Amino acid sequence: MADRKILVLGSGGTIAGVGADASDHTGYTAGQLGVAQLLEGLPDRLDWQRRLVVEQVAQLDSKDMDAPTWARLARRVATALADPQVQGVVITHGTDTLEETAYFLHAVLAPSKPVVLTCAMRPATALGADGPQNLMDALTLADTPQVRGVLVVCAGTIHGPVDVQKVHPYRLDAFSSGDAGVIGYVEEGRVRSLRAWPAGQARLQLLEQLDRPWPRVAIVMSHALADGWVIQALLEQGARGLVVAATGNATVHLGLWPGLQRAQESGVKVLIASRCPLGQLLANPEQAAWRYSALSPVKARIALALELLGPES
Ligand code: SIN
Repeated sequence: MADRKILVLGSGGTIAGVGADASDHTGYTAGQLGVAQLLEGLPDRLDWQRRLVVEQVAQLDSKDMDAPTWARLARRVATALADPQVQGVVITHGTDTLEETAYFLHAVLAPSKPVVLTCAMRPATALGADGPQNLMDALTLADTPQVRGVLVVCAGTIHGPVDVQKVHPYRLDAFSSGDAGVIGYVEEGRVRSLRAWPAGQARLQLLEQLDRPWPRVAIVMSHALADGWVIQALLEQGARGLVVAATGNATVHLGLWPGLQRAQESGVKVLIASRCPLGQLLANPEQAAWRYSALSPVKARIALALELLGPES
């Protein structure tokens, strides 16, 4: 269906950033230009402009991502996925929490169409802005019928929502999928895939819950000299879940265990993930009494919060 629509949702970020000086790549303000403006200068490949439905869902620096924006995004994407007139969705987003939004959408929706998040490391006013090409690549991906799932495209590289992490604060190719490797590439307007598209989890009932306050789930870092004072403070502040960003193969400082034990006994859910950006957790029988997550700590935090937010909790 060559006429099917591509929904483009803007949420801000450096891709929509404006700076006073075209050679300044750090002293700019993110989330200034509307997503319609970002699309204006793009070559009208495959008659895209006629097929685009463009909406501004938010206008923020993604370090400030909030629950109302996630609720709007998830619901709008869910509606688009159910609409036979829509071929795919593109979301422009800041790089800083892009991996969290991608994982959140993946954990709630199970897209049978492409839902592509893209971004930029340089503001739209930079001499060598990377946003326009990233946006072109995202449109290419969203317009390719066999593509499905929540995806991230940046610097010509396609990442999946579970493995992608921002690993560099400045380079244009700022994302990595670690050991898992990338899903593919967009090259000269063509998609080259290396492995399966991500399937998603279809927990659409969660869409109804997204106006409730998100349960308080905090990340506790296990590090040299750690002790339990942070855990005590979090419990006093009403934490309902704790994710431990543990060392190595999910090992936890001795000083944290009494607090974690108290938390678990009082009904607070505890999930242990590794601080290591590469590799996978290897089963250790001594750890049987605790729950572990193979996700990065920020994604494990979302998984636990969604579990607590679910209608069953
Ligand atoms: C943001 O995450 O919104 C700002 C930084 C960026 O997009 O690179």
